[in-house]
Amino acid sequence: MSKSEPMSKSEPMSKSEPMTRAELGKVSDPLRPRPMEQVSQAEKGEGKSSRDYLMPTYGDVPVTFVRAVGTELFDAEGRRYLDFLSGLAVTSLGHCHQAVSQAIALQAATLVHVSNLFGNELAPQVASMLDRLIGGGVHAGGQVFFANSGAEANECAIKLARRYGGWGRYAVISAYGSFHGRTLATLHATGQPSKHEGFQPLPDGFRHVAYADPAAIKEAIRPDVAAVLLEAIQGEGGIVEPPSGYLSEVRQICDETGVLLIIDEVQTGLGRTGKWFAFHHDKVQPDIVTVAKALGNGFPVGACWARKEVASAFHPGDHASTFGGQPLAMAAARATLQTMVDDDIPSRAAGMGGLLAGALARLDGVVAVRGRGLLLGVVLGKECANQVAGRALELGLVVNAVAPEVVRLAPPLTVTKAEIQEGVNLLGAAIGTVLAEAGEGGTEGGVARGADVKPPLVARGEDDDADSDKDARETL
Ligand SMILES: Cc1ncc(COP(=O)(O)O)c(C=O)c1O
Repeated sequence: MSKSEPMSKSEPMSKSEPMTRAELGKVSDPLRPRPMEQVSQAEKGEGKSSRDYLMPTYGDVPVTFVRAVGTELFDAEGRRYLDFLSGLAVTSLGHCHQAVSQAIALQAATLVHVSNLFGNELAPQVASMLDRLIGGGVHAGGQVFFANSGAEANECAIKLARRYGGWGRYAVISAYGSFHGRTLATLHATGQPSKHEGFQPLPDGFRHVAYADPAAIKEAIRPDVAAVLLEAIQGEGGIVEPPSGYLSEVRQICDETGVLLIIDEVQTGLGRTGKWFAFHHDKVQPDIVTVAKALGNGFPVGACWARKEVASAFHPGDHASTFGGQPLAMAAARATLQTMVDDDIPSRAAGMGGLLAGALARLDGVVAVRGRGLLLGVVLGKECANQVAGRALELGLVVNAVAPEVVRLAPPLTVTKAEIQEGVNLLGAAIGTVLAEAGEGGTEGGVARGADVKPPLVARGEDDDADSDKDARETL
C-alpha cells in the first residue's frame, strides 16, 4: 500500500476490537484436555529445539510437559501424570483453571500492558483484595507493591525495611535453612551457605540464626538491625515447621526492639497451609508480607504488602518495576483471588491436607509427615528422597525431593479425594520399590513396575469426572 493510498473501507474492524467472552470461548475450551490427535505439533514438542540453547542452571529434565488441566499433566506422548507439586506450589487452583485462563485471555485481548507512569484499573483492586486477606477478612490497612516473582517481592521488602530503618539501620536477620530467592540480596538472605558459593561478595547486611529459636534472634539484634525475615514454614529447607508460638515470640522481640517483622509467604501463602497465610496460625500481624507463586495461579506475579506507616517510607522514585502490576498479571491475580475466596480454598486445603497427611503417615517406609494443609514433607527412614521422586515420576506422580530424606508434596488445593488416593498409592509404590531395591524390606506395592515402566497413555475425554471422589471416600 502506497503512502497516499487510503485504507480500504472494507478492512475488517474486528482486528482492533477486544474479543468478547463468547468469541474467546470459541477459540478453545481450556478446561477440557483434548485428544492427542487434536494437539498441535508445536504443543507436543515434536521438532522441539535443543536444550543446548538454555543455560545449564536446571540440569537434565526427565520429562517435557505439553499441556495440563486440574491436577493432571500430559507429556508429548500423551502420558498422564498426577501433579502433586503444582509447579512448586504455584498452580493452587489446578492447571488452566477456567476462571483464570478466561480472565487472562479476555485481558490479553483488552489491555496487556501500561507503564506504571499511568494507572490501570486492576492493580488497586488486587491490592485491596490482598490487604483484606492479610487482615484475615477485614482490611489490614496496608499498601502493596507489585513485582513479578518471589525474589523481587523480597527485594522490595528488604529495600523498604532499610528505607524505614533509616541511616545505619539496614541489617536483616534471617534463618538457616531458609529460602528467599536468587537475586544477590535475597540469595544472601537465604540461609543456605552452599548456595552462596561462587557468588561472593554478596551485599552486606545479612545475618543468619537458627530457625525456630526466638532467643537466637534476640541475641542477634543490634542497633543496625532493620528487620527479621522469616518463613512461617520453611519450604525449600525441607518443610520445617516451627513450634506453635514461635512467630508470636519473635513478634514480641521485634516490638521490644523496634525491628520490623517480615514474613515470606511466597510458598506458604494464599491457602496452601489451610489458612490464608501461614502466620494466621500463630495469630500475629507482620509489618511486611511477601507473596508470589500462587498469586497468579501460574502467571508470574509477586507482591510486597506492608503496614501503611511502614509503606509510607517509600517515596516516588524509590522503587519500581516495568512489568509490576501490569493489567495482564493483575487480571490473573484478581481471578485467582476471587476464585479462592468464592471456593473457600483455605478450608479445602485444610480438609484435604488432613486426609493426605493421614494416608501418607500409614505408608510403609514413612517415618513422619511434616507441614500443614497441602504443603507436606514425607520423611523417609533413609536418604533416598531423590530416588523415590524419580521412581514416582516413572509411575506417573510428580513430587520432588526437598531434603535428602524428605519428599515434598504440594498438590493443587483443588485436589480431589480420588486423586489423593491415587497419589498416595503411587508414592507408596515408589517408596516400596526404592526400599526393596536397597534391600530394606520394602514391598513393591500393587502398581505395575519394571525398568521400562511408564505412566499410562490416556485419551481422556468429556466423560472424565474430576470430582468423582466417591471411591476414595471409603478408603481415606
Ligand atoms: C519462601 C520462598 N521465598 C522466595 C522464593 C523465590 O521465589 P521466586 O522463585 O519466584 O523468585 C521462593 C521460591 O521457591 C520461596 O519458596
